[in-house]
Amino acid sequence: MVDVRSAASAPKQEIRLEDYEAPAFTIESINLIFRLHDDYAEVEARSLFRMKKGAGSELRLDGGPYMDLLALEIDGSPVPDDQFVKSAEVLQLRSVPEKFELGVVTRLRPRENTRLEGLYFSGGNFCTQCEAEGFRHITYFPDRPDVLTRYHVRIEADTKSCPVLLSNGNPGQKGDLGDGRHFAEWNDPHPKPSYLFALVAGNLACQNDSYTTASGRQVDLNIYVSEQDLDKCDYAMQSLKRSMAWDEEVFGLEYDLDVYNIVAVSDFNMGAMENKGLNIFNTKYVLASPETATDADFDHVEGVIGHEYFHNWTGNRVTCRDWFQLSLKEGLTVFRDQEFSSDMTSRAVKRLDDVRVLRMLQFPEDAGPLAHPVRPEKYIEINNFYTTTVYNKGAEVIRMMHSIIGPEAFRKGMDLYFERHDGQAATCEDFAAAMEDASGADLKQFRLWYSQAGTPKVTARRSHEGRDLIITLEQSCAPSPGQGVKLPYHMPIRLGLVGPNGGEVTADLEGDGKWEDGSCIVNLRETHQSFRFKNVPEGTVPSILRGFSAPVVLDHDLSDDELAFLAVQDSDPFVRWESTQDLYSRYLVKQVSEDGEGHPPELLLQVFTGHLADKATDPALVAELLTLPGEIALGQKMESLAPERIHTARETLAKAFADASSENIIDLYQSLKAAQGYSHEQGAKANRRLRNVLLNYIALMPDGEETTQRRYAEADNMTDCMAALSLISHSNFDCRDKVLQEFYDKWRQNDLVIDKWFAVQAQSKRSDTVSKVRELTQHEAFTFKNPNRLRSLISTFSMLNQVRFHEKNGEGYRFLAEMIVRVDELNPQTAARLVAPLGRWGRVDEPRKGFMKDALMSVLKVSNLSDDVRELVEKSLA
Ligand code: ARG
Ligand code: ZN
Repeated sequence: MVDVRSAASAPKQEIRLEDYEAPAFTIESINLIFRLHDDYAEVEARSLFRMKKGAGSELRLDGGPYMDLLALEIDGSPVPDDQFVKSAEVLQLRSVPEKFELGVVTRLRPRENTRLEGLYFSGGNFCTQCEAEGFRHITYFPDRPDVLTRYHVRIEADTKSCPVLLSNGNPGQKGDLGDGRHFAEWNDPHPKPSYLFALVAGNLACQNDSYTTASGRQVDLNIYVSEQDLDKCDYAMQSLKRSMAWDEEVFGLEYDLDVYNIVAVSDFNMGAMENKGLNIFNTKYVLASPETATDADFDHVEGVIGHEYFHNWTGNRVTCRDWFQLSLKEGLTVFRDQEFSSDMTSRAVKRLDDVRVLRMLQFPEDAGPLAHPVRPEKYIEINNFYTTTVYNKGAEVIRMMHSIIGPEAFRKGMDLYFERHDGQAATCEDFAAAMEDASGADLKQFRLWYSQAGTPKVTARRSHEGRDLIITLEQSCAPSPGQGVKLPYHMPIRLGLVGPNGGEVTADLEGDGKWEDGSCIVNLRETHQSFRFKNVPEGTVPSILRGFSAPVVLDHDLSDDELAFLAVQDSDPFVRWESTQDLYSRYLVKQVSEDGEGHPPELLLQVFTGHLADKATDPALVAELLTLPGEIALGQKMESLAPERIHTARETLAKAFADASSENIIDLYQSLKAAQGYSHEQGAKANRRLRNVLLNYIALMPDGEETTQRRYAEADNMTDCMAALSLISHSNFDCRDKVLQEFYDKWRQNDLVIDKWFAVQAQSKRSDTVSKVRELTQHEAFTFKNPNRLRSLISTFSMLNQVRFHEKNGEGYRFLAEMIVRVDELNPQTAARLVAPLGRWGRVDEPRKGFMKDALMSVLKVSNLSDDVRELVEKSLA
């Protein structure tokens, strides 16, 4: 055997979509035996290969540097040393027969695996994470999503420390091996790519339930967690059952195995993983009880449980041909989980939440050096492309198709997609083609959403001719890395016309579009395009981009009075909210740029008090109408970021609202007090949301400290507790340190709650936050090994605390650079996810700009930097 050591340290080469080649073989089946021991694991893999006609006889397998190759056989005989070449990443067999069984035995060290990729040890249990390219760290294999095969798995382990042995598919035989060891076998009848393989072995408690599918299949449902968490799985289980029913009802899709297993692990790089029949979850998205989880946490559990369940069809039954197609499964599955959550909770509020996330995370990505299309064209490290663009913008792309062709044609398109591609590895193109064929619509131009990066800007201008209202839309999209010139997109713009008395006006349209439920969806395809609405009553106000029908930045010519009118009158909740936000933002942006101390105009106060008095609207939506635009959103409306001034302007306006409406705020706050204690029902959740928004204003009033502290002390659930704690953490209240300490002492045994304790301090707007955050990395509860802990402190600080991260002396940037380097030594994937905030130097002035670049440079200087971090830091500097 020839060992090519130089390859181990060579940086990874860029992979390109245009270089895609289909695999040269098929694999009929794989038999895997895992022999798990305390300090190592041995993996025996036997796969039946069949070379395709005309393919050469050479075989290339993917591998990794962290495993030892113990044996390599073809049809039971060892492959001679001169017949293969092994580097750190590739195992190449010179010549293989047309059909053969490949035998590979590898030895792994799961306990040393801090990268949390492949087979690793977490909280006393063995578990795997194979997406995107983790399976190659378990055995040498064609680790690519277009190689599908049937898996048969046998796990052998210590009976006492690993009573639970799980893998994909349906359970097979199990039994005792003597010597204190036992085994279990699993068969997955559905061919799958290696990234969907999973194994779990450990000492876990189980919550069990069952579900009967529409066609009568009995499915055994299990959620595995550590013993002390068994009382926190109920909501996840209910969510799973709701997901199963929803997918049957809405998409006609049923589950296809006898068991559905979910395992919660505390060390996990991402949210969760849809492995066939054996989902592995970050504990954060499984465990929830009113005492330990906020209402938002409950919603996330439901959303992620749904997301992974929905992957069973969109991801598993139909998977991706290559990783450039990632959004085929992720964008589509996010769209599906958003729809599910909308149906389970409030569609209007869910949409606001999703749009807020998109704008806060995806828009900056699309506007910065890491911008890439929903279907990227090249990458160095694929794990760096599990981005908000692929996921959230990807979901918007699906949503737009849904709007353009309508819900019925969309459903037909989904049916056709499954009819054509079930059991296959497909592409984004296949999906678009199915939608096109099912609807008869022409989506040729629409496909640019997959290939062009950047957030388009749409400008809407009005003109009148007689009684006709003409709305002219103009679109443009700024250059992004590697894409200088953009072609015009096809986008669905949902419009409404609100008559002078507040009612919906329906007017004949001249132009490309159609009316549907009081709104008109127009197709914007040109750079510049007009839509004429005939015979519109005077005083009618257009409501543009209802439901945020396209992921764009809209610039319109509505006056303050018109915005105030829509804020109250529009039937579309998104536009009501957006108009309110626009009104607040306009004023705040002016305050920042003019450094004015002017009292807010009467109109703003009127709108605010109008919302306060609104009894007809869902309190959860009222809560959003009463919330000022966040500092990040405000920053996006400015040429160059002025973090302190944004912060001050926003605080000042909040104080003005609090002063001007103190009585109404307090009255409403009192009236929302839950009569009968805690409930998780929608109405109760909505009331909490509103009440906690009001508390923000109350905290600014003369006895704010007292009220906030009382709210904290009396809270009988984590939602209220965190609302108060967050205010206390921002404040200079005398009680601050004492309350934070008490909270820590009370919850020190609960990791997920302690994550909140770190996060609430990382988000503090106090001027000492950078040094406090740095201090917290020395805290006994802090660890560089746990991704949740890292994110709760470091990502919360750098991504959500704009004013403190952008501290003028550059301390925030230097801190982040140091953290990236520290984390990279243990966990490159998670380290790489910390890089993005440093790439936003184009948005700030000197000296910040220089400090940010220096921080990036300091990371680049480190030797042995991972490919993951290097790729993003280099791009961030470009
Ligand atoms: N497919 C998973 C999801 O449901 C994400 C897993 C990605 N993991 C990774 N290490 N890249 O979205
Ligand atoms: Zn997913």
